[in-house]
Amino acid sequence: MSQRIRAGIWGVGSAVPERVLTNHDLEKMVETSDEWISTRTGIKERRISEPGEKTSDYAAAAARRALERAGVHPEELDLIIVATLTPDMFCPPTACIVQHKIGAVRAGAFDLSAACSGFVYGLDVAARGIEAGAYRRVLVIGADLLSHVTDYTDRSTCVLFGDGAGACVLGPVEEGGVLSTYLGADGSGGPKLTVPAYRSNEAAVNGAASREGTFIRMDGNEVFKFAVRVMPEAALEAVRRAGVAVEDVRLFIPHQANIRIIDAAAKRLGISGDRVFSNVHKYGNTSAASIPIALDEAVEQGRISPGDLVVLVGFGGGLTWAASVLQWTGERVPRA
Ligand code: ACO
Repeated sequence: MSQRIRAGIWGVGSAVPERVLTNHDLEKMVETSDEWISTRTGIKERRISEPGEKTSDYAAAAARRALERAGVHPEELDLIIVATLTPDMFCPPTACIVQHKIGAVRAGAFDLSAACSGFVYGLDVAARGIEAGAYRRVLVIGADLLSHVTDYTDRSTCVLFGDGAGACVLGPVEEGGVLSTYLGADGSGGPKLTVPAYRSNEAAVNGAASREGTFIRMDGNEVFKFAVRVMPEAALEAVRRAGVAVEDVRLFIPHQANIRIIDAAAKRLGISGDRVFSNVHKYGNTSAASIPIALDEAVEQGRISPGDLVVLVGFGGGLTWAASVLQWTGERVPRA
């Protein structure tokens, strides 16, 4: 009898802009305060791309790092998935632009739109494709330049968002790897978080007045309540599907939107603070990029070791949610 193929993460990478936008900078742009932003969200600063930079620039940079750590040459890739709500343009897909930038000439490439849940949606597609024997090397990228859809005159949203990208290379593993995934959506909640139209080709920090209709609009309170409910539910379902126990989870890596949402979800799950990863203070909410950036930093900081159980869980526009349980297999090329 043939053995079941399992999928695992071979390498992780991330890339964020150098430019830092602090809470104090925002105090000069809108009526807000470092104190309000810190206590309501946990965010202290976020990274903002330069005018003219594209989502594919950061996606490709994150991908190159993930490929290096996976010991995979771009030409070995079978498939590239880019999860984003801020593509370079509507066509070509950002995944195809990345494919060209990194020289992954053999890979199929497509974009996936599931807002902040997009990376875990992509992970599910990649893992299932590998398990089915259809692909052997898949690159999943979560990349968003939310500054392109942020209204920097709206204090209720502009303090929350930032730019960045994270990537993983997946391939077959002997044991462990992606133990489970769970995807969900509730389209009836769609109006609670919208970007009605999209214009990617200018940085939003300037020229806000002409761009009404291309900004992210959100019913913050409603999204907050949704997130606090759905994050633990989704995590628990993924844990159940993996056949493991919450107590055995080494690290909980939630979507980095708001520290209060993260803390409330961890509390409901009964997961202590030392088993929760957060970097929201540094980057704010980077949508599809937030989970893979967090995973990359968790690996870099030695927070997970081979054999550890890790839960990834996200929520966002759609409304959508997604969770996955990984048994960490370690990167193919150990970090120096
Ligand atoms: N500075 C100062 N005051 C502010 C600011 C600000 N930046 N923003 C709002 N306020 C004011 C409001 O106007 C309101 O004033 P009022 O009482 O006089 O009307 C007051 O602060 C309280 O506002 P609330 O909305 O009740 O504040 P809340 O505690 O709910 O926090 C927040 C708002 C941070 C937006 C929260 O609701 C939240 O995090 N929601 C979830 C957002 C999220 O996670 N989105 C993720 C999905 S994003 C994606 O998929 C791309």
